[in-house]
Amino acid sequence: MHFTYVNPTVIHFGKGQISAIQSAIPAGSKVLVIYGGGSIKRNGVYEQLAKALEGHEWLEFSGVEPNPTRETMDKAVAIVKEQGVDFILAVGGGSVIDGSKFVAAAAKYDGDSWDIMTGKHTVTEALPVGAILTLPATGSESNSAAVVTYAAEQSKRGFFSPAVQPKFAVLDPDVMKTLPEHQLLNGIVDAWVHICEQYLTYPTGNMVQEGYAESLLKNLLVLGAQFGERDNDAWRANLMWTANQALNGMLASGIPHDWATHMIGHELTALWHVDHARSLAIVQPSLLRDQLDAKRAKLEQMGRNVFGFADADDLAAKTIDAIESFYQSLGVDTQFTAPDMTKAQAIDAVITKLEENGMVAIGEHQAITPEVTRRILDSAFQ
Ligand code: NZQ
Ligand code: ZN
Repeated sequence: MHFTYVNPTVIHFGKGQISAIQSAIPAGSKVLVIYGGGSIKRNGVYEQLAKALEGHEWLEFSGVEPNPTRETMDKAVAIVKEQGVDFILAVGGGSVIDGSKFVAAAAKYDGDSWDIMTGKHTVTEALPVGAILTLPATGSESNSAAVVTYAAEQSKRGFFSPAVQPKFAVLDPDVMKTLPEHQLLNGIVDAWVHICEQYLTYPTGNMVQEGYAESLLKNLLVLGAQFGERDNDAWRANLMWTANQALNGMLASGIPHDWATHMIGHELTALWHVDHARSLAIVQPSLLRDQLDAKRAKLEQMGRNVFGFADADDLAAKTIDAIESFYQSLGVDTQFTAPDMTKAQAIDAVITKLEENGMVAIGEHQAITPEVTRRILDSAFQ
């Protein structure tokens, strides 16, 4: 397939690189530093960025929640507009970075900010964004995507625009030292599923993207197996760089995409606040089993090249079992029970949300209709 590829985000990787923001942010900018619930105040990141911002004019906005809401981010938009902010520095995980992208786009738009997520407004301009990543998982630090929730409507949606792609991203693996085990596991699973969404479709003959995807998947298997010995610089650096490469546009170039696991998973988060990565581990094994015939050739390739399995009639099924076992080996559940409702009600709730969001023909063949999703959830939900 034809493709046009560029990744314009400058990456500053390694210990002490937070200081690089000093020159990475244009002189004379008025900077809004956006962060989350305060982890950056407990791990030295805030002190490092404050030092690097000496000489810049800056203010801050905190309290971005995991799965950022438009309700919260609209408050930051108001500050940007009132104060004449002209540079946004996002400091956190995917939620803070995505929320900051939304702010950067909404700051240049006079209508209802949610129009950005519904597609009523196409984002062509935004304030410049820079990122200091504190949680390797989403790849948001060097891609053009953002996912934002409208809490009042239990709606979680994504948008893409080159205008919000960060100008630079600082990836200092040292900041991962304070990450709870739970979030590190989420990072491994999210990065893994990102690669799968861009790989587990059908053979393309594209040796570069397919081969790179397989290398990154093997990295994550190793990092998962070494989880008990994770307190070392190499482990942290390898996870941070692998998760970044998993969703920075490179693997996505010139190949078919799936993303159905993500679209269904987002509804689990919108409805029940399931962590993003956990929602994927719940949906994906059941989705792959349902779609086994359409994905057989690629599942077999993954079985051979990632898991090292020998050819066999049941190779595709064995590969799905191995993916599910990988999640379970990390203590990540692959089944879900919705609180306070029956399984049938929970499935109905997800289908209704998918229909509201227009997600009625998803996957690389647009074959995952609400009827197919029902079958998938019937197997994924208890
Ligand atoms: O808010 P703070 O205090 O920073 O705490 C966060 C948060 O509670 C904490 N944390 C982050 N870095 C830390 C830390 N705690 C201690 N030490 C550190 N160094 O971790 C918690 C979770 O953070 P969050 O940003 O929500 O996690 P993640 O990076 O997994 O982001 C998830 C969001 O990204 C979206 C998801 O849908 C979800 O909303 N995604 C964005 C994508 C993109 N832009 O390309 C693609 C993904 O598929 C995904 O959909
Ligand atoms: Zn994801």
